Amino acid sequence: MSILIPEAPIVSLCGSPEETEALGTQLAAKLQGGSVIALHGDLGAGKTVIARGIARGLGIQSAVTSPTFTVVQEYLGNVWTLYHIDLYRLSSEDDAIAFGIEDFLADRSAITILEWAERLPTLLPAETVHITLERVRETERRITQQQGRPASSKPSEQQ
Ligand SMILES: Nc1ncnc2c1ncn2[C@@H]1O[C@H](COP(=O)(O)OP(=O)(O)O)[C@@H](O)[C@H]1O
Ligand SMILES: [Mg+2]
Repeated sequence: MSILIPEAPIVSLCGSPEETEALGTQLAAKLQGGSVIALHGDLGAGKTVIARGIARGLGIQSAVTSPTFTVVQEYLGNVWTLYHIDLYRLSSEDDAIAFGIEDFLADRSAITILEWAERLPTLLPAETVHITLERVRETERRITQQQGRPASSKPSEQQ
């Protein structure tokens, strides 16, 4: 997979769920088969909202909710299959492997979105697009996109 977004992080402030969803829809246009999107952020940060936007951009109109209990939800888009995966209930990478995570990540005909992506510290492809969502206030989110590694709010954590 080639470089989809510049190396430097892209930071957006989204003042409503609709803006966050629209950001996801814009991102979808840059994706290709095999793309992996890792979503980081606390409960309520907006991971599912941006996942819904990506799904819309891939031509998926059905309801998109966190697949917390099923772990994975599969959708058929215009061109690609979408796997929307919520790792919240998997406690370790070994659990994720037992679940079959590597097969989803390796599927070149699909785009994979992961909520609670930090549950997979070593298995994510190097080209993974990391999106970090931070709550600024009730309806505002700071959203940082960076390919290859998660954004860190502390500069000392960046390599
Ligand atoms: N700017 C915003 N972007 C995204 N969500 C927002 C925003 N402002 C308020 N919200 C609300 O925050 C919640 C985010 O929920 P959700 O996407 O399910 O979070 P997560 O999947 O990270 O746990 C929703 O209720 C949404 O309406
Ligand atoms: Mg969610």
